[in-house]
Amino acid sequence: MSNPIAPKLSAHGAEMPTLGYGTMLFPEPEHAIELILHALNSGYRHIDTARKYGSEPWVGEAMRASGLPRDEIWVTTKVTEENAKADDFARSVDTSLEALGLDHVDLLLIHWPQPRVPLEETLGALAKAKRDGLARHIGVSNFTIPLLDEAMAKCPEPLITNQIEYHAYIRQDRLITACRKHGLLVTCHAPLARGAMLDDPVIVDIASTHGKTPAQIALRWLVQQSNVAIVPRALEISEIEENIGIFDFALSETEMARIVTLQDNNLRVINPEVRRPVWDEA
Ligand SMILES: NC(=O)c1ccc[n+]([C@@H]2O[C@H](COP(=O)([O-])OP(=O)(O)OC[C@H]3O[C@@H](n4cnc5c(N)ncnc54)[C@H](OP(=O)(O)O)[C@@H]3O)[C@@H](O)[C@H]2O)c1
Repeated sequence: MSNPIAPKLSAHGAEMPTLGYGTMLFPEPEHAIELILHALNSGYRHIDTARKYGSEPWVGEAMRASGLPRDEIWVTTKVTEENAKADDFARSVDTSLEALGLDHVDLLLIHWPQPRVPLEETLGALAKAKRDGLARHIGVSNFTIPLLDEAMAKCPEPLITNQIEYHAYIRQDRLITACRKHGLLVTCHAPLARGAMLDDPVIVDIASTHGKTPAQIALRWLVQQSNVAIVPRALEISEIEENIGIFDFALSETEMARIVTLQDNNLRVINPEVRRPVWDEA
């Protein structure tokens, strides 16, 4: 496979591969293992999973089938907001590790904020998982600016990332500035807005200039920004390969700026009523 291994991003001693393979809403075991294995064989070295997705056993199986050394693959998993209390949190981490067949993950995230449990308690459990060697690094997901400020002030161990929805159809400037101020990487979930921008004339036009696909342009636009990582999901072998083919070309400043104008679409695709915090103003 000629695709390069994705470059890495640094934060608080962590070296996280810029490109991860997302495993939310995934098919049944056999097909899932095959797809994750194909991602690893194509050069992906970062897999994004979560207790909530049910994909952890398939991630572990694919990792073993790949024959790659454990320390060459970055695995992220998450503890859902139902398990925000310290005891539940610890049980969730143990269950994740058992499902993955691993003794540690590379990154453990609080999946969504939980307003009914003091943040300090959840952060304490997160930090303990790190101190106990169950997670090499820790972070948060779907945290707004006020939550991030609170987490940075209260977490006993350094956080390395906030995994948030970010793509060419949503403006997240203020939140991204806050992440950078705190020295956090921005990890983009739903980096393709679940495909919403792939027919956009601006994206299609830039794609034809570079001989690349619209998905490659949308993903390149993200990773060309400072300290931004992505975890796209793809169920087609060709798309898995396409999505890693974004490190052999660059967008011009003009092209980057043209794509910025698309953020006026203001499309949030991940917005579950039961879990969402009060989102930051754009
Ligand atoms: N932290 C969180 O709360 C959170 C929330 C949402 C997602 N995530 C993570 O982020 C990952 C990605 O998010 P997502 O799956 O919601 O959305 P996404 O990656 O933005 O979009 C996935 C969609 O794009 C399509 N696609 C992928 N590559 C393509 C390509 N090269 N050309 C054309 N279409 C392409 C896929 O089609 P097919 O699948 O049909 O191939 C799928 O419909 C998840 O799997 C999960 O790991 C985290």
